[in-house]
Amino acid sequence: MVLRVQYWHDGILRMLDQRLLPYQESWLDLQTWQDVREAIKDMAVRGAPAIGISAAYGMALAAGAGESLDVAAAELASSRPTAVNLFWALDRIKSLPEKSFHTILAEAHRIEQEDIACNEKIGENGAALFPENARVLTICNTGSLATGGHGTALGIIRTAHAQGKVKHVYSCETRPRLQGLRLTAYELLHDGIPFESIVDSAAASLMHARKVDCVVTGADRITANGETANKIGTYMLAVCARHHGIPFYVAAPWTTFDPSLASGDLIEIEERDGREITHFDEKQIAPEGCPTLNPAFDVTPGDLIDAIISDRGVHRPPYLFTSQS
Ligand code: MRU
Repeated sequence: MVLRVQYWHDGILRMLDQRLLPYQESWLDLQTWQDVREAIKDMAVRGAPAIGISAAYGMALAAGAGESLDVAAAELASSRPTAVNLFWALDRIKSLPEKSFHTILAEAHRIEQEDIACNEKIGENGAALFPENARVLTICNTGSLATGGHGTALGIIRTAHAQGKVKHVYSCETRPRLQGLRLTAYELLHDGIPFESIVDSAAASLMHARKVDCVVTGADRITANGETANKIGTYMLAVCARHHGIPFYVAAPWTTFDPSLASGDLIEIEERDGREITHFDEKQIAPEGCPTLNPAFDVTPGDLIDAIISDRGVHRPPYLFTSQS
């Protein structure tokens, strides 16, 4: 899929507003790093690699306006806490020997291009694990919309489909922001990949009915011991998959690995506004005053993950990632 989430044009960052998809393909013109921060925070752009790329372009906007790069980096870093790609991209810009507008912009382009290349590699590495006529279950959106292009878990599905190996995809709707129903469905329809959207709670019974050959998900951060933060509901899928003897795979570029953290309990899990639960768009669907708890991610223990698929290969448990591995 050639759909691009964002591109640099004439001194501004043009960004597809994912909050409005699939009803409307509307582009935001982001002129300042503050605009980029707001877009990440409010999820106009989302998905771990995509927000890293946006933050890098945000730094180019800061440099172009002659603003403090330290302040811009610190503020961009405070937009969302869980996906390590955001911090990785900002660190990469901060470590440039020369931090002019042109060098930062060139580095942002490089980060984006490298991500696409990583995803293509992940696609090949992961597709090799799929059986023929695979029936695959996935959650959230991990495709072109969440990355520089192609995608991670959805990139594997895309590559495997191109190889004729995918019979069917079950796409979890992904409450509360519905990235599966709105975005993954949009990408799968675009590519003509056979699928059905399901409510998140249908996954276990489909596994019980032997309709799922494997589960593949993305990741927001993977610690040294292979514990993986990803969209809320991922852990539940891993538990169900293990119970039914179904392989559970996680796909991510190396930029999502954080070997500086020993284990998943050290990952900061973003807690989002309860309004995401109590409201559907602007309409309130819960009683006034309904209390909520809305963690955006959960952590899956490494021993429930049959393989972690990266651009560097297929990693198997027991996991021990270092900055060198
Ligand atoms: O809250 P989101 O939509 O940013 O969450 C996205 C996910 O959890 C994805 O699975 C993850 O970022 C990997 S995207 C290639």
